[in-house]
Amino acid sequence: MADLIVKPSHGLKGEIALPGDKSLSHRSVLFAAIAEGSTEITGFLTGEDTLNTAKAVEMLGIVVEGLGTNRLLVHGKGLDGLAEPAGVLDLGNSGTGMRLLAGLLAGQDFFSILTGDQYLRKRPMARIVEPLRRMGAEIDGRSHGKLAPLSIRGGGKRLRPIEYTSPVASAQVKTAILLCGLFADGETSVSEPSKSRDHTERMLRFFGVEVKEQGTRVALRGRQSLRAGGAIEIPADISSAAFFIVAGTIVPGSDLTIINVGVNPTRTGIIDVLNEMGADITLLNPRLQAGEPVADIRVKHRRLRAVRITGDMIPRVIDELPVLSVAALHAQGTTVIRDAAELRVKESDRIATMAMELRKLGAVVNELPDGMEITGRGSLAGAICESHGDHRIAMSLAVAGLAAQGKATVIRDTEWIDTSFPGFERLLNQIAYR
Ligand code: S3P
Repeated sequence: MADLIVKPSHGLKGEIALPGDKSLSHRSVLFAAIAEGSTEITGFLTGEDTLNTAKAVEMLGIVVEGLGTNRLLVHGKGLDGLAEPAGVLDLGNSGTGMRLLAGLLAGQDFFSILTGDQYLRKRPMARIVEPLRRMGAEIDGRSHGKLAPLSIRGGGKRLRPIEYTSPVASAQVKTAILLCGLFADGETSVSEPSKSRDHTERMLRFFGVEVKEQGTRVALRGRQSLRAGGAIEIPADISSAAFFIVAGTIVPGSDLTIINVGVNPTRTGIIDVLNEMGADITLLNPRLQAGEPVADIRVKHRRLRAVRITGDMIPRVIDELPVLSVAALHAQGTTVIRDAAELRVKESDRIATMAMELRKLGAVVNELPDGMEITGRGSLAGAICESHGDHRIAMSLAVAGLAAQGKATVIRDTEWIDTSFPGFERLLNQIAYR
C-alpha cells in the first residue's frame, strides 16, 4: 500500500502537460470498436480504468494496437462486428467503463458478464439495468440486478427503442441508453433533469452519426453506422487539471500554466465556480479538437471568497467537488454545496469521506444529506489521512497538504491515483517545490 507524503509548498510554478481525458478515452475506444474501419487515438489515458475498457474491447474480438500506451489504433468492425467474449469482462474500479459497456452489450445478440473491484461492486447499477431491460436486454446481477457482477443477454432481434426520462443527470446513464439505441430500429431518446457532460453526443457526431439535441433531451436513430477516418486527439482531463488549478489558486506565490486541456462547457464548472470565488484563471489559445473545445489554462494565487454551488451547476462540477471543498477551506465565509447527493455513489461516498478527512486537517465541515457546508479557516495543519480507495479523494487531500502549515500531510493507500492520473506524484514534486 503506497503512502503519499505532501509537504507545504511555497508556490507552484511552470508549464505542465497532464494525462488524457478519462471520459473521452473510454468513449473513443468503445465507439471506434463499432465504427467501420480503423481509428487512431492519441492522448489515450493510460490509467487502469481506461486500460480495462480497452482490454474489454479486445475481448469482444476487436484488434487494439498500442495497448498500454497513449496511442491506440483500433480496428473497428462496424455495428455488427463484436463477438461474444470467452471470459468475464473486468472493469476494475471504473463506473464509466462498466455502465457504458453494459449499454453496448445490451444491444448485442450474445451473452456477456461484467464485473469490477470491491468498490465498483457496491455502486448502483439499477439506473442502467432498468432502462436497458425495457429495451429488450435480459440483465441480471446481485440484488436482482442492482449490483455487479451483471450478466447480459443482449436484446438482439427483440431490441426496441425507448423514450427514457432519467431521474438522475448522468452522462453514464445517457450514454448507456444511446449506445444500446444505436442497435435498435427507430429513435431512442434520453431526457435528464439537468444537462450532463455531452462528450457522447459530440464524439458520435465526429463518427458521422446524426444526434438530435433539444434542451436536456438527446435522441438518435438506431442502425446508423459510425464512419472511422478522422484521428481522435484527446486533450488533458479538466478533472485532473482541477487539482492543479485549485493548488495554484490557494498556494501563495503560484503561477502555473496547464497546456492542452479539454474545456467542454459541460465540464468547466470548476473554472466558473473558482472565478465566482475570485480566482485568477485565464484560458489561452482556445481551439477545437475532434469536436471538443481545448485551451491552455493559466492560474495564479488569489484570495478566495465563499460561494454556493447548487442546482444545474452540480453536473458541471460533479468530479471536482472534492477539490472544490479544499478551495472552500481557503475562502472567506461559508461555502455551501447542495443538490449533490450523487456524490454519495461515486468511487466512495465523497460527502462522508471528504468531511471526515478534511476534519483531520482541522477543517470545520458540516455534512448534509446532499452536500456540505465548509467554513474557510485560512490555515490548516498537516495530518495523516486515508484515500478510502478513491483516486479523487487522495489527490484532493494532496492539494490540501500543499497549502497546509507545519507538518507534512500523509495520505495512505494512494495507488488508486493511477486509475485516472498516472504520474501525479512525480508531477506534483516537479512543480510544487522549485
Ligand atoms: C462520467 C460521468 C460522470 C462522472 C464520471 C465520468 C462519464 O458520472 O462522475 O467520472 O464519462 O460519463 P455520472 O454521469 O454518472 O454522473
